[in-house]
Amino acid sequence: AHLPFEEIEKSISARMKAAGLHAIVLDDFLAKVRRVHAGETGLIDFAEIKDLKREEIFDLHTIPSVDINDADMKGMLEKTVIIKLNGGLGTSMGLAGPKTLLPVRDGMNFLDIILKQLQILRKKSGANIPLLFMNSFNTDEATRKHKGIAKLNGDVPSTFVQNRVPRLDATTLLPIGDGTDGEDWCPPGHGDIFPALQVSGLLDQLLSRGIRYAFLSNGDNLGATFHPGILAEFVRRDLQFLSEVTPKTAADIKGGVLFRHAKTGRIQLLETAQVPPANKMDFENTQRFADFNINNLWIDLIALKERMSEGPLDLSLIVNPKETRGTKVLQLECAMGAGIGQFARTGVVRVPRSRFAPVKNCSDLLVRRSDACMIDDDGALVLHPDRKGEEPVVVLDDNYKKIDDFEHLVPVVPSLLKCRRLSVKGAVIFDVPADIEGDVALENPLPTAVSITRLG
Ligand code: UTP
Repeated sequence: AHLPFEEIEKSISARMKAAGLHAIVLDDFLAKVRRVHAGETGLIDFAEIKDLKREEIFDLHTIPSVDINDADMKGMLEKTVIIKLNGGLGTSMGLAGPKTLLPVRDGMNFLDIILKQLQILRKKSGANIPLLFMNSFNTDEATRKHKGIAKLNGDVPSTFVQNRVPRLDATTLLPIGDGTDGEDWCPPGHGDIFPALQVSGLLDQLLSRGIRYAFLSNGDNLGATFHPGILAEFVRRDLQFLSEVTPKTAADIKGGVLFRHAKTGRIQLLETAQVPPANKMDFENTQRFADFNINNLWIDLIALKERMSEGPLDLSLIVNPKETRGTKVLQLECAMGAGIGQFARTGVVRVPRSRFAPVKNCSDLLVRRSDACMIDDDGALVLHPDRKGEEPVVVLDDNYKKIDDFEHLVPVVPSLLKCRRLSVKGAVIFDVPADIEGDVALENPLPTAVSITRLG
């Protein structure tokens, strides 16, 4: 029941041109809409999936340790940039601004902690490594107001804004609204980092300063500190793109995995959204796919520029159905980890879980705020050593889903150092210090919130 594609194309072009978006971004978006219009499912044929051999993934602990002050290392560090993704909407936590401005611990928010990590790294290495934040139209203003951001890199900018694309009506595929409301637009996923670096001119600016190696990670992952050993190995192996993975636990069965594509022979990313229903079990089989992509990436910017001179990266399309102002809409997105499939010399490194400490929901936030975690010498937020690498499992119910409700119900963070599992049903207010040890299930059957002191 779709309109002819030409009609959709006209409407989208008009909307995006009026917003001053670059031709590269427009063409890339139209190509995606064309695929959706043609009924493409984006599903992967499992017959084309070859598993990576054990030896194709190298373990972080098997690579030589490096001295950050070594002369070779110094040369590499001077060519390095760190980029944090900071454009997401954090809709699942009910956020209106950047997730990275939420307080985490010791009065510091994610941004403060990331800036601290940079300070430590610069001090240790003596290299003035630049740090960039990729913001979106939703997060840019608030992020730039944060003190310490503006002058971070001397005359290299410390922020850039990713592109925006229209949200499409799910039935007609026409852009919704008239383009004047922020809700008429969405950031097109973190895969947009590649065109955003290109059309902002930042990629050329970095290259002209001799910067070649980029370490990319999610702004909400405070375990993703710069690792000199991985950079050294990336350079030694002459790679163009390297993805960090970590062993899957039962909680990560939906995480994207890497595989070798039978036809292209390349390493590619496979995400949940691309798995045919019949192969769901295969995908979630941790015997077969033991590790998942944690979105910590190492990229050679010279190779990126060369690849983009041939045209936009072909990243697999994710069609994300949502609702805006009561209308069913589609957000067309792509993931930056899919970039690995676009390069010939790629690799995968298996790292400890500690390099993946994301905050996807308020339960994660509670763990990160608690004494089950601590900040290490590199400024990374890691598990307390007493935890022996095991995260407490925290399951808060929907009363705690939105950040405002969570803050209201958890004014005093409980001790989780000895907690194996905490589940909370109903609205329980953590208003006094509480030690949660072992397996604890709290339940308040009443419709109104009660203090934890009342549960005895
Ligand atoms: P996620 O895709 O997990 O999304 O982003 P999110 O922002 O945490 O939350 P939801 O899905 O809206 O609830 C992983 C990282 O990628 C960034 C986010 O800011 C986060 O650091 N991101 C995501 C972008 O920078 N741009 C995007 O378009 C999407």
